[in-house]
Amino acid sequence: GLKRREANVLVVGLDNSGKSTILNYLKRKEDQVEEIVPTVGYTVERLSGIERNRSGITLTAFDMSGQGRYRNLWEHYYDSVEGIIFVVDSTDALRLVVARDELEMLLKHQQVVLENKNINNSNNGNNQMNGEKNDLDDNDVDGDGESNKNNDDHESSKNPNESINNGNNNDIRQSLSKPDIPILFFANKMDLKEALSTVKICQTLGLHQLPHKQWHVQSSNALTGDGVQEGIDWLLVQLA
Ligand code: GTP
Repeated sequence: GLKRREANVLVVGLDNSGKSTILNYLKRKEDQVEEIVPTVGYTVERLSGIERNRSGITLTAFDMSGQGRYRNLWEHYYDSVEGIIFVVDSTDALRLVVARDELEMLLKHQQVVLENKNINNSNNGNNQMNGEKNDLDDNDVDGDGESNKNNDDHESSKNPNESINNGNNNDIRQSLSKPDIPILFFANKMDLKEALSTVKICQTLGLHQLPHKQWHVQSSNALTGDGVQEGIDWLLVQLA
């Protein structure tokens, strides 16, 4: 069978999109542990032993209760967050644009934090204070200790020069130690007749311009759970 392990997954989305309903669907009542982290003000929910989670992987979801806290969030959790669940209300056409902005901000802040972390790591154990280039292997950008010299062509062909903000993202991303975490989008409330199609949602969110390679849109009805497990299954495959 599949190995059981923990996976920290960030659950985000605008208010009223259905985050709590999805989390409630996934968790077993007796396993509910809810904890408010006062310094940052969002809810941490540990979903362990999820009944409907066939793979047995434990998801810990950070359900943000407010917006505009991404910087803070990543600074606290950049090491542990392995995936993102981004919930959108498929019937809220007007606010899909707002959701897009939030997504952009979330990823931008993650990049900044990872970039800073990378700079700090480069300075660790290196006492040169005069800005001289240190001895780190510049070709080892993925943290596996192996030089990536021979992978350059392969890597760049997988990484088309696309970005949300500007043309520099690729440079930044290639210097990150943890560049690409999977993002699962729940196009939620698909049961309502005014719900937009997943294609339309992809377009409005601009997902094809995402520098991220690993994303997936799953339509869902959080009230009945339709589509929820399918989405989680995709995420679990990415996390395995
Ligand atoms: P905040 O706590 O405000 O951030 O919202 P949230 O994202 O946690 O949304 P919540 O789960 O509270 O759902 C908002 C409302 O939408 C509730 O009334 C839910 O019952 C309803 N809802 C959630 N998912 C669905 C769905 O798939 N279909 C329908 N029809 N209603 C849904």
